[in-house]
Amino acid sequence: MASLSEAGQARVRARSNIALVKYWGKADRKLNTPAVGSISVTLNDLWTDTEARFDPALETDRLLLNGVERADQLDRVSRCLDLVRELAGTDIRAKVTSENNFPTAAGLASSASGFAALVGAATAALGLTCAPRELSILARRGSGSAARSVFGGFVEMHKGTAADGSDSFAEPLADAATWPLKVLVAITARTEKAVGSGPGMSRSAETSPYYAAWVASHPPDLETARRAIAACDFELLAEVSESSCLKMHAAAMSTRPPLVYWNGATVDCLNCVRELRAGGLPAFFTIDAGPQLKAICLPGHEGRLKSALAGIPGVSDVLVTELGPGLERLE
Ligand code: DP6
Repeated sequence: MASLSEAGQARVRARSNIALVKYWGKADRKLNTPAVGSISVTLNDLWTDTEARFDPALETDRLLLNGVERADQLDRVSRCLDLVRELAGTDIRAKVTSENNFPTAAGLASSASGFAALVGAATAALGLTCAPRELSILARRGSGSAARSVFGGFVEMHKGTAADGSDSFAEPLADAATWPLKVLVAITARTEKAVGSGPGMSRSAETSPYYAAWVASHPPDLETARRAIAACDFELLAEVSESSCLKMHAAAMSTRPPLVYWNGATVDCLNCVRELRAGGLPAFFTIDAGPQLKAICLPGHEGRLKSALAGIPGVSDVLVTELGPGLERLE
């Protein structure tokens, strides 16, 4: 453990991830345990770099996100830092400086890479040696999807059953090189979403008549996705992923008041991917709580898919990435 009279500093990169079998709903709000497990892929080229600098001279934590002081996000960050401080036995405050290389909070899972990078940087800055599973549990307290960004490649988040959340963590299923899929992100809006995932899913649990069916029908999807990844069965992964995505959005849309995260271009992108697949191009879509469409394809097909998506009115950019690694310490 670091000498706590000294300032400690560390920088960590965490990558964004995209769930193929989605997380939507919480079991315990305080512990932030999910009501369902999830399976994701970690994206190589979409990341958050975070520096945590603990400084005895600071009276409060500070958060700079993409160069802007974000008092509105500070509470959530401080609560996560408190967990790390408790582990380290200190109450020194920290300045957190975070940069995303992609649009923040437009359904591109910035909280996933953000909280994974935060716990990675804060634990390292305080000299704690945490096993990846412990980091995943800490990251989950910040944001459920962040638990998955601790790891690279294909990742499964277990919902767990323990009352203290100790078995609610992510772990790797297969590394990025095992099945080198490509992921495309069609950007259809760059504004922050109106209702974030956390409040959105809580509202779905309270008001959607489809929420119970969403939770009850989830375990076979996880099982199918696991089987598809183990066998590198693209058709099977495509079918289960699109189904999980549409079930999640059915629960969201049937929430009161409704949560419609899509815009017109999102729907046009969805139809484009389906038509290309019907024509033989191995691709499928998924959409998180935002208007961006993510398309996953086998390597070699990303060029054609990118030009098709880029040609859709309302699509301002299409990012292409391969799968990437988990947390990385930066100098
Ligand atoms: C639609 O992880 O952002 O992206 O735990 O409240 O921070 P909190 O929610 P968050 O929810 C992500 C929801 C999703 C699906 C997914 O990533 O599995």
